[in-house]
Amino acid sequence: MCGIVGYTGKGDREAAPILLQALARLEYRGYDSAGLAMGNGHGLVTRKLAGRVAALRELVDRLPVQGASGIAHTRWATHGAPTERNAHPHTDCQGRIAVVHNGIIENAEALRAALVHAGHTFGSDTDTETLAHLIEDAAGDTLETRVIAALEHVVGTYGIAVISGDEPGKIVVARQGSPVLVGVGEREYFVASDASAILEHTRSVVYLNDGDIAVLTPDGYQVLDRSAAVQERAVDALAWDLEAIELGGHAHFMLKEILEQPDTVRSTLRGRLQGDGTVARLNGLNLSAADCEAIRRITIVACGTSWHSGLVGRQIIEELAGIPVHVEYASEYRYRRQPRQSGGTGATLTIAISQSGETADTLEAMRAARGNGSRVVGIVNVVGSTIAREADGGIYLHAGPEIGVASTKAFTSQLVALALLGGYLGAQRGHAPDLAQELVCALTRLPDLVAETLEVEPEVQAIAEQWAESRHALYLGRGLNFPVALEGALKLKEISYIHAEGYPAAEMKHGPIALIDAEMPVVFVAPHDHVYDKVVSNMHEVRARGGRILAITTQGNGDLSRLVDHQLRVPKIMPLLSPVLTVIPLQLLAYHVAVLRGCDVDRPRNLAKSVTVE
Ligand code: G6P
Repeated sequence: MCGIVGYTGKGDREAAPILLQALARLEYRGYDSAGLAMGNGHGLVTRKLAGRVAALRELVDRLPVQGASGIAHTRWATHGAPTERNAHPHTDCQGRIAVVHNGIIENAEALRAALVHAGHTFGSDTDTETLAHLIEDAAGDTLETRVIAALEHVVGTYGIAVISGDEPGKIVVARQGSPVLVGVGEREYFVASDASAILEHTRSVVYLNDGDIAVLTPDGYQVLDRSAAVQERAVDALAWDLEAIELGGHAHFMLKEILEQPDTVRSTLRGRLQGDGTVARLNGLNLSAADCEAIRRITIVACGTSWHSGLVGRQIIEELAGIPVHVEYASEYRYRRQPRQSGGTGATLTIAISQSGETADTLEAMRAARGNGSRVVGIVNVVGSTIAREADGGIYLHAGPEIGVASTKAFTSQLVALALLGGYLGAQRGHAPDLAQELVCALTRLPDLVAETLEVEPEVQAIAEQWAESRHALYLGRGLNFPVALEGALKLKEISYIHAEGYPAAEMKHGPIALIDAEMPVVFVAPHDHVYDKVVSNMHEVRARGGRILAITTQGNGDLSRLVDHQLRVPKIMPLLSPVLTVIPLQLLAYHVAVLRGCDVDRPRNLAKSVTVE
């Protein structure tokens, strides 16, 4: 949610092209306005507008800015409409200080009133601008001491980068609740909301902690605490390939990421299955056999697509490990007053699922769970992210960077990670050994079955052509495939703006059936399992009311052509893993419908990939 970048170097390279390219890589975090600010030796120059990074690039081509350091921003509006005046960077009254910000200043109204009273003039409606004016007034000899002093007045979350016309080449960075890291290059230093923005320049990064202040100059960097004492922070090496953040000939990141799933599933499994048919020790979890034995209940907290994977995970873990699991929206969990868990720290395990590892609500839910006496583990894709660092342990997805705003490959890898976790916990507790053996065998075949499932794409494309004009759609499933129905509906509404609802198939009779007519496409997620026949009965009920049906079933299932308009078959697999396959046609359907409707698939309106504000 909002992307910030910064660059400072010795003058070997111009900053503007580096900032613009890094900003384009962060556009998935927000794309309603963009801007940059640079020092030109006399003062600061800013360029900003409402619109995309590409438009900012054109503006900078027309009105070039020169210099070897600067900051830039791509915005997802919170306070103030997405207009040029609200685009970052924001400056103080003199135009000597410029700030880019990701997060929310919660006491902005009060600060603004006080600053206006003191004679400051505001040029935007944003919360961010208060920071520039606070720094303008703050006491201190250096930009960093003034930033530290200014932040004492601030309540809220922020990742900020600040420059001053009086200290050319210096960038001051501060972090409180919003991700920001420092990139360490040769004779040059970077700031970014996430590592993908600077991957082509350096693989050495310093992840900042809440409370950290970083000071970058062309000669080096330092991390300080709020009393300006120097802090030691490790330099981590990035493992991602540059290829992973390039389109590589695909029209959209979403399609690229859907098609990558055989590899990403393989990557999540790598080194985690053993020849004897068991799940390998998941070392990163930091759970001993005694710890696994002591768990009495599990709570999963997550948002969006990750919440859907949690719903599948509940059933997987309950069956494989015999532990009761609750799944909660992180945003609800964090504000609910809860009775303190009985049984001591080890009795409750909280699992935070998050692709980005930065979702504000999931992070806070995880912290709340810990405060309530729970051990917490993360299922996270982004290495070094805040959730990954704060959890007591966890499982990395290793799915590579996910850039498309609509999550696809992270979902299937999350399901695989949850299956591994279920199998591992079950083995430690001696629960359902035969099922675990079957699971490991099925997981071994899974990447190839994902590849086979992707072969439905031409059929899906043909269906998309018939359905692209729909105004509504209903997605139905049961058991493990009810969350897949939710996920299919979410994918469609996110990127094609067609209203879509996911529902448990049997619940349809308690409401959604009233919506069914010849205009209403209904997707049934009905692989072969113990409720298949029941779901076929639900198809009859829809058919009897003239609804149009797409059924996702399993190869070898009976021919439903008299009952449904379209039938897509996925390969046979044990029911616990069927969601990994059944979701794929739904991802492809949403993608092709959105493309046919002319939607901007990778940048759907109003959405951002990484929701770092609550
Ligand atoms: C946003 C994204 C979704 C994602 C959700 C949770 O809404 O658009 O794709 O599922 O956040 O994100 P997380 O990174 O925590 O999985």
